[in-house]
Amino acid sequence: MKILVLHGPNLNLLGTREPEVYGSMTLADISERLKELGRKLGAEVTSLQSNHEGALIDALHDARTWANGVVFNPGGYTHTSIALRDAISAIQIPVVEVHLSNVYAREEFRHVSMISAVCKGKITGFGWRSYLLGLRALVEQLSD
Ligand code: DQA
Repeated sequence: MKILVLHGPNLNLLGTREPEVYGSMTLADISERLKELGRKLGAEVTSLQSNHEGALIDALHDARTWANGVVFNPGGYTHTSIALRDAISAIQIPVVEVHLSNVYAREEFRHVSMISAVCKGKITGFGWRSYLLGLRALVEQLSD
């Protein structure tokens, strides 16, 4: 089983970006933990990050050709991007939406997600563990 973990804008700065909100783990730390959990669950995990909406769309299109599913944190694009939502609808592989912070405990504009309705499910608020929970849920569902 092959899984893409996709990170959107500003997540390259994890570790130093608002650590009180997003924690002190870097993206490299999280990617390592995901690889490790993937190995335990029998899934090969590939992580990608981009600050560019079009590059995220390209990565989703490409995932259709090689991945069984996607764990996706679209960062700020969550709240604005109809193009990302359309890409998720188009690829027909399951996508799990994840967020480090609890978006519902924050500003109102973060309560809106353009992508939730076309995702398999969503995990929000568990810090870096949101990614691990998302990976586990996706792999278990794909194994059913
Ligand atoms: C985020 C939440 C978004 O509102 C924010 O724009 C991010 C990170 C999270 O993981 O908590 O960049 O997706």
